[in-house]
Amino acid sequence: MHKNLHTERLILRELKESDAEAIFKWARDPEVTRYLTWNPHGSIEVTETILALWLKDYENEECYRYGIELKESGELIGMIDVVGYHHGNPVIGYVSNRDFWNKGYMTEALNAFKNMLLEKYDTIVIEAAKDNIGSNKVIQKNGFRYVYTEKRSMKGEELEINGYRYLKGGVGRMRVLIINGSGRTNGCTARALKEVADALQEDGIEVNTYNVGNQDIRGCISCHSCRKTGRCVFNDAVNEIAPIFEEADGIVVGTPVYYAHANGNVISFLDRLFFSTRFDKKMKVGAAVVSSRRAGSTSAFDEINKYFTISQMPIVSSNYWNEVHGFKAEDVEKDIEGLRTLRNLGHNMAFMLKAIKLGRLEFGYPETEKGPSTSFTDGL
Ligand SMILES: Cc1cc2nc3c(=O)[nH]c(=O)nc-3n(C[C@H](O)[C@H](O)[C@H](O)COP(=O)(O)O)c2cc1C
Repeated sequence: MHKNLHTERLILRELKESDAEAIFKWARDPEVTRYLTWNPHGSIEVTETILALWLKDYENEECYRYGIELKESGELIGMIDVVGYHHGNPVIGYVSNRDFWNKGYMTEALNAFKNMLLEKYDTIVIEAAKDNIGSNKVIQKNGFRYVYTEKRSMKGEELEINGYRYLKGGVGRMRVLIINGSGRTNGCTARALKEVADALQEDGIEVNTYNVGNQDIRGCISCHSCRKTGRCVFNDAVNEIAPIFEEADGIVVGTPVYYAHANGNVISFLDRLFFSTRFDKKMKVGAAVVSSRRAGSTSAFDEINKYFTISQMPIVSSNYWNEVHGFKAEDVEKDIEGLRTLRNLGHNMAFMLKAIKLGRLEFGYPETEKGPSTSFTDGL
């Protein structure tokens, strides 16, 4: 049994047997049921039968179905409920007696019902036929965000349906892990990464930056002990940063170019980080940033991106390859095109992070088909 919800003019309460007559008043009205999935009730017996089933539903704690009662007169004027779940998020439906339309009652009821659901759920789903202007207004006034319009066939009619979502606290907290692979903590790579970090922060994304280029990080010895433990056998920056990577929604890896490839330290770090960790990296967003004095930038760039593309991680791009040029950080300051590219990268990344989070709520991630590995006798 859920507690009653009170608004200025309404009480939202569980339905009861004696409500059949009031429900029949709207349930028989073809104008009211026009955009609903069910047909008008032909007699009060139909309403009574359905009401009996609804009352039985109350035995289930997950049943959220409230009658909307006017405080002033005690009259039951409508109903609001959770009609189903979309990727675990409740979908709201409502209906009311036509005599009480355009008086703000449903806006008031939806607000109370939505707030009650937000105590348990982060996202709420609601739909309305595009032609149902009143219902779209009720939804929009309650702060729901328009997401899509979809054609659907309902009761033999082709209808356009508007889909809306309400997200508690917007997209919420999002974090990016930034790895500086330069031996020089305040060198060109650091300067380049700062430009990305600033753009991300400007767009509300938290950043955590770690320098691995100046640490003693050895390469992978292929001992495979991580297969059992989920940790690298060498307890260094890899094991320290792995949980931060797990929590992060995205990663930016910056490296100076050494002999036309990424710094060996970064490669040792990434080999062991990606190989030893068992958590799912799917849809974490990745970006590579490279700094060179003169040449070899794109091969280093490709090298870093390979870690992402084997891990189902979308790569963020910018309006040029993510690179700056210089020998000292001051040189990078003069590379205005490079810095501009990195600002664009940061903003694109923030957008992708938010879009993927919203997309996951809306569509869920695609299933990954798994099976035996082939060609390699050790199965890895
Ligand atoms: C061992 C070593 C190899 C390098 N190889 C290249 C190279 O192949 N191409 C290039 O343009 N710069 C090369 N450089 C220069 C650096 O990549 C460049 O100065 C970079 O911007 C330095 O970044 P940092 O200040 O973050 O270390 C090399 C530097 C070192 C120390």
